[in-house]
Amino acid sequence: MMTLVLVAFMATNSVASVDSRTYIVHMDKSKMKTSYLSAANSKEMFEEMLDSIYQLSPDSEATPPPRLFYAYDTAIFGFAAKLSPMHLESIRNMDAFMAVIPDGSMRLHTTYSYKFLGLEQGKGLWHASNLESDVIIGVIDAGIWPEHPSFQDHGFGPVPAKWKGACESGTNFSPLNCNRKLIGARYFFKGYEAFHGKVNETANFKSPRATNGHGTHCASTAGGNLVQNASFYGLANGVATGMRYTSRIAAYKVCWEAPANCASSDILAAIDQAIKDGVDVVSISLGLRKGVIPYFDDLIAQAAFSGIQRGIFFSLSAGNKGPRTVVNTAPWLMTVAASYIDRSFPAIVKLGNGQSFEGISLYPGKSLKESPIVYGPTAGKKFAQYCIPGSLSPKLVKGKVVVCELGGGYGEYQITEHVKLEGGVGTVILHYEGLDFLAYPPMSPAVSVGDMARKAILSYLNTTKSPTASLTFKGTAYGKRAPMMAAFSSRGPNLVDLNLLKPDLTAPGVNILAAWPGITSPSEEEGDKRRVLFNLLSGTSMACPHVSGLAALLVSRHKEWSPAAVKSAMMTTAYNLDNRGSPIKDVYHGGPATPFAIGSGHVDIQKASDPGLLYDIHPLEYLLHLCSLKYNSSQIARFDQNFTCPKGTTMQPGDLNYPSFVVRFKSDAHNVTITYRRTVTNVGNPPIGTYKVQVQEPKGISVRVNPSILSFKTHGEKLGYKVSFTTIKRIIESENSCFGSLTWVSGKYMVRSPIAVTWI
Ligand SMILES: *[C@@H]1O[C@H](CO)[C@@H](O)[C@H](O)[C@H]1NC(C)=O
Ligand SMILES: *[C@@H]1O[C@H](CO)[C@@H](O)[C@H](O)[C@H]1NC(C)=O
Ligand SMILES: *[C@@H]1O[C@H](CO)[C@@H](O)[C@H](O)[C@H]1NC(C)=O
Ligand SMILES: *[C@@H]1O[C@H](CO)[C@@H](O)[C@H](O)[C@H]1NC(C)=O
Ligand SMILES: *[C@@H]1O[C@H](CO)[C@@H](O)[C@H](O)[C@H]1NC(C)=O
Ligand SMILES: *[C@@H]1O[C@H](CO)[C@@H](O)[C@H](O)[C@H]1NC(C)=O
Repeated sequence: MMTLVLVAFMATNSVASVDSRTYIVHMDKSKMKTSYLSAANSKEMFEEMLDSIYQLSPDSEATPPPRLFYAYDTAIFGFAAKLSPMHLESIRNMDAFMAVIPDGSMRLHTTYSYKFLGLEQGKGLWHASNLESDVIIGVIDAGIWPEHPSFQDHGFGPVPAKWKGACESGTNFSPLNCNRKLIGARYFFKGYEAFHGKVNETANFKSPRATNGHGTHCASTAGGNLVQNASFYGLANGVATGMRYTSRIAAYKVCWEAPANCASSDILAAIDQAIKDGVDVVSISLGLRKGVIPYFDDLIAQAAFSGIQRGIFFSLSAGNKGPRTVVNTAPWLMTVAASYIDRSFPAIVKLGNGQSFEGISLYPGKSLKESPIVYGPTAGKKFAQYCIPGSLSPKLVKGKVVVCELGGGYGEYQITEHVKLEGGVGTVILHYEGLDFLAYPPMSPAVSVGDMARKAILSYLNTTKSPTASLTFKGTAYGKRAPMMAAFSSRGPNLVDLNLLKPDLTAPGVNILAAWPGITSPSEEEGDKRRVLFNLLSGTSMACPHVSGLAALLVSRHKEWSPAAVKSAMMTTAYNLDNRGSPIKDVYHGGPATPFAIGSGHVDIQKASDPGLLYDIHPLEYLLHLCSLKYNSSQIARFDQNFTCPKGTTMQPGDLNYPSFVVRFKSDAHNVTITYRRTVTNVGNPPIGTYKVQVQEPKGISVRVNPSILSFKTHGEKLGYKVSFTTIKRIIESENSCFGSLTWVSGKYMVRSPIAVTWI
């Protein structure tokens, strides 16, 4: 007997020491032992607690002690620590234990990581009459390049008195790197190191200083200075500017390179700190690698909830997995999709037979005169059509233009480098339908062309003995059809919360020009020795900071608005027609974008600053919404430890006072009615106004609004209405759904909400 027990213990021991891993633990503050509560701060409290667990555990000899990385007391109440299964078990058995989530990893939301161009629209910025520089944007990302002109502080007054943040020291970074523009910089690596071992100091500065350009790019898009004459080798020349260029910026570095990763525990620590530091807006262009998880397991959602309770606005990227599922979807987050702007970088491929095709190129050099072209078998061996390393034959491609298809596992920039390495003088990259045109920074002449050109070029190659082509680079052009939804932008339905439409809106996210670190090449590839002040990137990562910066504009215009009010203003005023007057298109399928891709539409900051009506939401209503999702008490407690769902609540998930609608019917529903309630708050000017409802009914659905007229007399007045959706006929436009809208109209005000009706 005795021996058996011992063996069992030993087995546990060895498993324990091997299996220690990082967990994020939520604790119930009210149930923490009073002896711990006497600790000077939450860090000491959790240290004491873990210490006593360690002392009391039967295997303390053999197991390393639990290691506390972070104590959280704002974003959530709890901690992150490396724990053995036995330590975790002891914590689970404590009264104050609420929940545990293993540390996870997040990724930056840039597409393909091949780098791109496009300039901000600038629209709206120049009219921002409010130039107070009291708004602070916290950017949680991959660090910052403080010397960049986008972050210099010429003309800025003292740092706002409310600021409690810090400028942390580290490798090549000191408090002197902060100024009146970049007012804070911190870095978080303990969770990363628990996964990957020490931060790789060849590939990273162990400090807030960036090596990956993503954070610098995002920060400058949200709140960077006006910088005249910014360009990428002369392309996209103009003023580079943050959406809220008089904002102060605080950078929180949570992502590290080689291996590239961002740990949830570090992100949580950064949000916790940003809230305490006093930021007004938080911009987060990253998301879980895993994708869809319920809100009660979503640490960013939980931390952000704590932030919005304190009036802080959170803007997040929707993800780059289009046409697959949108992430970062909690109702208190602004979830931003990505679309094209009207700028492009045209380049012409002219074939020997006289046909010519427009594609895009960021090649800043001279055009290429007529040269022989090769492709597939005429360029090399197996897989030569993809131009992957080793497939091209130097003899065949020397002095030639090489035609390459995507699909061999390499990005456009790498393809052009393979071609150049084997002696090719130029590259034509063939795109398929439904693929985005994202610019990349080639070092040799290269053009990407679309599906029509692909077919024509392949057929020309097939039928011609000595095919030739010339490549002409036309620089920067404006006035392309825009906006258009990027195919890569992640889509609804929102699988975590099917009654909530996500993404919320779209903003520029394709070929965006913004600040770039002085140490990093524009392609972020090792062989690229170029250094640029500005670079072009694409992704919902780039769309998110546009909205963060625009939110910062609204926050200083309307100090009394809640984060939900700011969201509502942007959503109900978003537009849905492109610059040709047609419904905004979706590059993925070529047809009009549905609300599952575009949300409420494309952000229009002018209109958002004077929206007429607001759909406001008190933080308590979000908790009631979680109750309506049937979250149980321990799941709800992760958002607010003091809240319990009222008994017998009649709220249904669709009743959250959200500025958009999702209605779900069983596929055999005949003459079935679903009714939702909404309340709108009057912020119109003048305040006296009569709004009439205009409904564009989804096909096969009858929509009734009661009352259909809302008459406001005073500023801030709230009026409610009910909207009923009745099935007449099951008609599907796409994705098992059909779409419409509900708009309150009064004079210049159009307060629009999209409607998505889904048949399940
Ligand atoms: C550290 O980074 C360098 C430079 O990117 C890379 O070559 C090296 O493989 C990395 N080391 C590890 C252990 O990943
Ligand atoms: C603008 O920048 C280009 C190079 O990027 C430089 O050649 C030119 O002189 C600059 N023009 C002005 C007005 O600063
Ligand atoms: C090229 O020619 C071959 C044989 O004639 C044919 O099977 C193939 O479909 C052609 N490809 C294109 C792209 O025209
Ligand atoms: C809530 O649900 C989770 C998962 O089903 C369960 O583990 C937990 O015990 C539940 N809590 C309560 C208080 O019912
Ligand atoms: C819960 O309520 C108590 C008493 O009202 C308050 O002191 C405490 O700060 C609240 N805790 C949280 C997490 O809101
Ligand atoms: C639909 O249902 C309502 C009540 O539920 C009923 O009054 C009405 O007559 C029905 N309409 C049809 C066309 O069946």
